[in-house]
This record gives sequence, structure tokens and C-alpha cells, in this order.
Amino acid sequence: MTGIPSQPRIEVRGAAKRYGTLQVFRDVNLSVGEREVLAIIGPSGCGKTTLLRCMDGLIPLDEGDVLMEGRRIDGPREGVSMVFQHFGLFPWKTVFQNVAYGLRLAGASRAQIAARVPKFIELVGLSGFESYYPYQISGGMQQRCGLARALSVEPRVLLMDEPFGAVDAQTREILQFEMLRIWEARPTTMVFVTHSIDEAVLMGDRVMVLKGRPSRVHEIVAVDLPRPRDRATLLLARFAELREHVWGTLMADARQAELEVVKR
Ligand SMILES: Nc1ncnc2c1ncn2[C@@H]1O[C@H](COP(=O)(O)OP(=O)(O)O)[C@@H](O)[C@H]1O
Ligand SMILES: [Mg+2]
Repeated sequence: MTGIPSQPRIEVRGAAKRYGTLQVFRDVNLSVGEREVLAIIGPSGCGKTTLLRCMDGLIPLDEGDVLMEGRRIDGPREGVSMVFQHFGLFPWKTVFQNVAYGLRLAGASRAQIAARVPKFIELVGLSGFESYYPYQISGGMQQRCGLARALSVEPRVLLMDEPFGAVDAQTREILQFEMLRIWEARPTTMVFVTHSIDEAVLMGDRVMVLKGRPSRVHEIVAVDLPRPRDRATLLLARFAELREHVWGTLMADARQAELEVVKR
């Protein structure tokens, strides 16, 4: 799946956001199709988390709209789930209770919760750890739990905010391939924020490069790598070409910006 999605599941139009006098981004337009993964990459501080929070309805945009299946949405985003960089689990709840929480919020009955939670715990590879508390399991397992919680409500849009940014390098790789496996099993609309070029190319059907000050969309690259993707994808010549291309866009004026900071 490459190019422009046929039927956008979620869209952002003309978005701008500022905090006080800090203009974080402007003119952000994007649309993500059904069963499409849009990876967003950009340097730290360019507003990736802010953009996802606006898409999730946690904070308002200053300009522009978020549309779901063509309809403008404001207020709580039914059908949108978020996975946070620092997992966002309740320390006083077990794995089971953390996963159940999202379903409870969505109004699921006790019977629905009892049926669904084990299914999603199994999907993310956490069976046997239902009664553990977050402090008793590794960071990678905590994020598996965060993922199960987000997936359990069967979201129409899954927002991922550097989901593997807080775990060690090996765990990160394991989780990337786990995520690809899970996505193949349950393909959904996904916006995947990262600051890793490799991760963006590996996960995305398209990669959107956000940068500048205020940041805006510099390029959207179609990733024409076949799915299902796995470790072998990393060895493809096309993978290397795409990562070099994204690197070029991302780094084009990074050196210039560094010099400007020094001169000030
Ligand atoms: N609640 C806030 N109030 C004021 N400034 C903020 C707030 N949240 C983020 N920022 C600033 O907005 C910019 C973008 O932040 P963020 O969206 O977290 O970027 P990213 O996720 O790309 O690293 C940064 O300069 C950050 O310091
Ligand atoms: Mg962030």
C-alpha cells in the first residue's frame, strides 16, 4: 500500500498549535487510510507528542481540524487509542486491571471485560503475567501491557508516541517486530511517532518528516517495501535507499541550524 490512501480514516487539516508565544507547528495536513500506517519522524521538540495529543483530543488545536471518517471531531475521541512513551500504566493496578481499564472506560460489561482482556494479553505475549504489577515486570513488558490496553477497545485509530523510546536497544528491536506481527494479525489505522529513521521506514506505509521552527511537514515519503515485514526487510537494498532518503530530508539543514544557534 503506497501513495495516497483511498478513504481517510483520520485527517488533520491546517493544524497549528502554540504554547504561549512558542509556535510549535503550523500548516500541518495529513490523512491516514484504513489499514495504513503513517510514521511521523522529527527531531526532539518539534511537536510530535503535541500533535498526537491534539489528535487524541487531550489538548485543543489553535487552528485547523481533526476529522474522523470525514466528520470533524471535538471532545473525547471515541475509537482513538493512544500508546504513551512512558507506558502510562497505573502502578497500583495489575496487568489485567490495567488492560481492563480502557474497556471499563469505554463502557464494557464485566462479562465483556472477562472475555476480552485475556485475548489481548495473549496477543501481546503477556499470558501468565496477568496478576503482576508494573514494577514487577520489565519495561518491554510494561509497554506490551500498554499496547494490550490500547488494542483491547478495538480502536479505529491507534496513536503511538515513541512507544519503544524508553526501552533498551535489544528490547526495542524485539518490540518492533512484535508490533509488525500484531499489526498483521489486526491491521488498523496507525500513526506511529518516532525519532528513529529505521523504525519509521520499517513501520510506515508512508513516512512524514516534520521539522523546522515552527515545524511543518517537509516531506511525505511512500515506503514501497512489501508486507509482511520482518527482520529480512532490514536487509533489502530498498530499505537502505529509503532510510538514506529520509536521513537526507531530516538532516538537510540540521548543520545549518546548529551553526545559527552557535552564532546567536
Ligand atoms: N504543556 C506545554 N507547555 C509549554 N510548552 C510545551 C508544553 N508541552 C510541550 N511544550 C514545548 O513544545 C515543544 C514541542 O514539544 P513536544 O510536542 O513534546 O515535542 P516532541 O514530542 O516532538 O519532542 C517543545 O519545545 C516543548 O518544550
Ligand atoms: Mg515527544
